[in-house]
Amino acid sequence: MRDEPLVLGIETSCDETGVGIVRGHTLLADALASSVDEHARFGGVVPEVASRAHLEALVPTIDRALGEAGLTIGDIDAIAVTAGPGLAGALLVGVAGAKGLALAAEKPVYGVNHLAAHVAVDTLEHGPLPGPAIALLVSGGHSSLLRVEDLATGVRPLGGTIDDAAGEAFDKVARLLGMPFPGGPPIDRAAREGTVTVSFPRGLTAARDMERHRFDFSFSGLKTAVARWVEARERDGQPVPVNDVAASFQEAVCDVLVTKAIDACRTEGVDILVIGGGVAANSRLRAMATERAAAHGIAVRIPRPKLCTDNGAMVAALGAHLVAAGASPSALDFPADSAMPLTLVGV
Ligand code: KG4
Ligand code: ZN
Repeated sequence: MRDEPLVLGIETSCDETGVGIVRGHTLLADALASSVDEHARFGGVVPEVASRAHLEALVPTIDRALGEAGLTIGDIDAIAVTAGPGLAGALLVGVAGAKGLALAAEKPVYGVNHLAAHVAVDTLEHGPLPGPAIALLVSGGHSSLLRVEDLATGVRPLGGTIDDAAGEAFDKVARLLGMPFPGGPPIDRAAREGTVTVSFPRGLTAARDMERHRFDFSFSGLKTAVARWVEARERDGQPVPVNDVAASFQEAVCDVLVTKAIDACRTEGVDILVIGGGVAANSRLRAMATERAAAHGIAVRIPRPKLCTDNGAMVAALGAHLVAAGASPSALDFPADSAMPLTLVGV
């Protein structure tokens, strides 16, 4: 077992072709090619377009990452790749590419879970987890609260979304406010210019929800409430105060996420909260979580925004953690698993 394995990570689960290189907990390169502009006019990611873009971008992005780190593939100890969850065709490009590279360069390959990688990437910013943590994972497809003992041995889900994921809610509300896809960044920007003037519903936070859905999330009612509010204004012929609606919507999402995450920490007796996934790039979520957790003696760890959204460094970080923990590499016939469960860290 080596303490500081040199790992190249490949991410192709959605619309970003990411290749990162890490040595232990140190980030050496983080190359990204995005097909987001090709999907924007469709209002969401088109799987076939994403797969084709990965195919074109993968080899140049690997070359760019190696160049950035001043390394050749021969220097690398292991290759890690997102095995799932994600878009089947998009995942296949990364998995097949990683296997080909592993065979040609005679390196071990680790198929890893994209969601666990969103949590692992924080080690590149804040070092290894000193103890058990609660992870709040908020991306385009997932909103989950997890208890993490050690990422190499698995995570325990405490709750998750029962309808829309947090990022999905940002994307849908942005669309109805006439903002581009993905909706998180434009809502974040608009909200900074606005004021919280409307109190939108906080899903699954009522006393009656505590028994069955204490750590679960629901954002579809919030999305509908925003749509109804905007429609009512338009019906009355009044202008829609877009920045205020964005700020009010964002406040409702962040309030629910932070309230439940702190509740999970307190219930589990854990004083570290890690927040990961694309929505963790949100400026209000970062500020609110840090401020409210401090009042309870909980330390919040959130990677810098660029590491929150999909990237290759997160895959490399999880791969390096598995190598250092002595985990066995994946068998070369491992599949891309679009529905890979949260509890499976690697395959
Ligand atoms: O983790 P990610 O890059 O991809 C998935 O694994 O899904 O997350 C993408 C999601 C999108 O829904 C996007 O709107 C959201 O993250 N997002 C944000 C922000 N930046 C990205 N949501 C809120 N505020 C942001 N600043
Ligand atoms: Zn993601």
